[in-house]
Amino acid sequence: MKYYNEILENDRTLDPEDWSKMRELGHRMIDDMMDYLQNIREQPVWRNIPENVKSFYNKDIPLEPQNIEDVYREFKEFILPYNKGNVHPRFWSWVEGNGTPFGVLADMLASAMNPNVTIGDHAAMYIDKQVIEWCKQMLNYPKAATGILVSGGSIANITALIVARNNLKDKNIRKDGIRAVTSQMVLYCSTETHSCIQKAAEVIGIGTNGVRKISVDDNYRINIAELKETIETDIAKGFRPFCVVGNAGTVNTGAIDDLEAIKEICNQYNLWFHVDGAFGALAKLAPEYAYSLKAIEQADSVAFDMHKWMYMPYEVGCTLIKDPEAHRSAYALIPNYLLHHERGLAAGPETNNNYGMELSRGFKALKVWMSLKEHGLKKYVALIRQNIAQSFYLGELIKENKELELLTPVTMNIVCYRFVKPGLTDEKLNILNKEILMTLQERGIASPSYTILNGKYSIRVANTNHRSRKKDFEILVEGTVKIGRELSESNQI
Ligand SMILES: Cc1ncc(COP(=O)(O)O)c(C=O)c1O
Repeated sequence: MKYYNEILENDRTLDPEDWSKMRELGHRMIDDMMDYLQNIREQPVWRNIPENVKSFYNKDIPLEPQNIEDVYREFKEFILPYNKGNVHPRFWSWVEGNGTPFGVLADMLASAMNPNVTIGDHAAMYIDKQVIEWCKQMLNYPKAATGILVSGGSIANITALIVARNNLKDKNIRKDGIRAVTSQMVLYCSTETHSCIQKAAEVIGIGTNGVRKISVDDNYRINIAELKETIETDIAKGFRPFCVVGNAGTVNTGAIDDLEAIKEICNQYNLWFHVDGAFGALAKLAPEYAYSLKAIEQADSVAFDMHKWMYMPYEVGCTLIKDPEAHRSAYALIPNYLLHHERGLAAGPETNNNYGMELSRGFKALKVWMSLKEHGLKKYVALIRQNIAQSFYLGELIKENKELELLTPVTMNIVCYRFVKPGLTDEKLNILNKEILMTLQERGIASPSYTILNGKYSIRVANTNHRSRKKDFEILVEGTVKIGRELSESNQI
């Protein structure tokens, strides 16, 4: 006890000794970050990290305190300049959003409040629920549906697929485990489906053998006839089909599967209809895409992200499930320490833990709530349409240029192309285009990414960037051609 008494005599806290110093630094950080975002266009999109900087990242754990001014100086010197670049107007890699200045501030407020948004009668629980309601409204998804905000698309998808798996009416998978289903459970999706769906199937016990990857047509959309035939073959063989995943925007090319046809097949064979709309679901807000994405309204579940095509700071994704009972019965579990009370802190909305795996959850809803209020939904619709228009414009620039080849028709916000030179084989062009891409990034000109389509290495632009301007796509085309010429004429390829 003597030992404890000594500790008790010397109260410690992690709060600053000098609040005014912390406050002053905080103000400066906000100024610096606003300058950073305001002037980001003047910066290279990406910078190679020098070796001395990399070695700075590899130090022993600090045991003693360091001055916060020094820590911030290190951040500015060693971390900030080597950012990934997705805040930049010419970043179009993978599928990544940019965040906004107000989103930064909202995240700061959420961090200052720091509620754990699981349980209890406090404001964040209601704002979390409010944002779920707004998500349903955005997609015109049934009002009675339930949902949960999660870290991103991968987790949003697995959250839904667990519900789909547990929804077999003649088995109690939650109680008896996957072995209760003696025949192989099967999930269907196209070959273009994001890898997170296969990973989810592996994690939830379906296994890779239970994932049927159906081929796609020339527009990278699932072959509906093959889907139907495969389901029938599987049924005839005694397998247990349970779910079809439709794509609302594939990661490679932005293709939208025939969701209406998938829905009908699901109705016919009594299968769960899930939509992976990680970025594309929100294109439903654009009148031009409302029709092809309308079937989302009837999906049993849909997963999508707001850190992609709603430009929210990382991380925030969402799962919506049409049948609240199916959703709840997959997750609800109320131990004594999570009981709901009539009054006091443990009252309030039902615990979010009844609708997903995570118990501890941050206040990610605040940035969505504040950003939607800042701009209004109509502004997001305008920006999504702007990104689509820019992608079509880029497609036209590529088609007009004899040194470039468009590798897929532009259908939404993804453009896949390559530099071409007569006489070069596909194999040489693959090497050349990979070099072009890396050089575009190394010179800080632009950050598209890549994919391989029918064996052809493709430079791939996924445009979910609210900072991009028409001119940025012209810079990309000029840069690609210039570097393509330089490399192909240098005989290095
Ligand atoms: C179609 C699709 N599904 C799922 C994901 C995974 O989303 P996240 O990266 O947020 O986990 C992505 C990511 O780009 C995607 O494009």
